[in-house]
Amino acid sequence: MEVVIVQDAAAGGELIAEGIAALLRRKPDALLGVATGSTPLPIYDALTAKVRSGAVDAARARIAQLDEYVGLPVGHPESYRSTVLRQVVEPLGLDAGAFMGPDGSAEDVQAACEAYDRALVEAGGVDLQILGIGTDGHIGFNEPCSSLASRTRIKTLTEQTRVDNARFFEDDIDQVPHHVITQGIGTILEARHLVLLATGEGKAEAVAQAVEGPVAALVPASALQLHPHATVVVDEAAATKLKLADYFRHTYAHKPAWQGL
Ligand code: GLP
Repeated sequence: MEVVIVQDAAAGGELIAEGIAALLRRKPDALLGVATGSTPLPIYDALTAKVRSGAVDAARARIAQLDEYVGLPVGHPESYRSTVLRQVVEPLGLDAGAFMGPDGSAEDVQAACEAYDRALVEAGGVDLQILGIGTDGHIGFNEPCSSLASRTRIKTLTEQTRVDNARFFEDDIDQVPHHVITQGIGTILEARHLVLLATGEGKAEAVAQAVEGPVAALVPASALQLHPHATVVVDEAAATKLKLADYFRHTYAHKPAWQGL
């Protein structure tokens, strides 16, 4: 696992967007796994700017959703499908055909989960998966004690996650669904490159546990330690609880340029 400490969220967004641009130059039809939440927005802004300036061509990129609420009406603005279309697919100039995600409104949720896992494999697998981290260490919607081998499935949100996400639902926790579909931790680990961005002091404890603690289902993001190519980008505030911060700074400063992200 590589840990990169950057000054702030904008620098993290720029670094990761450049990594995605390098991937698209190598593989124009790369399948990009995208996360929702506030944290990845600087990545999408920076990538959109690169596309608009002509620094990279994303016309053939494909986008895969990480997770979804269950039971929101089709087209609900806070469904993750609507969110990804609004924040990633449209700004990049892609059409909806370039996008894939689980069906949160399916009658048979389990079948929809299995179908999405199959669709990811049939699409050739995710090339680069962007991840955020919940304050309780979750990735996607894999809450603490999710199996490290889990596949895409339905989960019940913790009260803390519903409180954290109420800001997207008029600060009304009663509007936040209890159930979600999420790529499993086993599914996420199949992506070729995992890139987790964490910013702000509120994420410092979860980042320290994920990076320097034991691999444990209690901290789902610690599963990144099992992946051969995982990059954790944190701003100074989110890095404050890392014991090895100086080592991470030193190794990144001396990283051979040809390695890229
Ligand atoms: C939600 C999403 C996660 C995201 C997390 C943190 O639970 N399902 O993918 O990482 O929120 O969100 P934020 O980046 O807004 O703190």
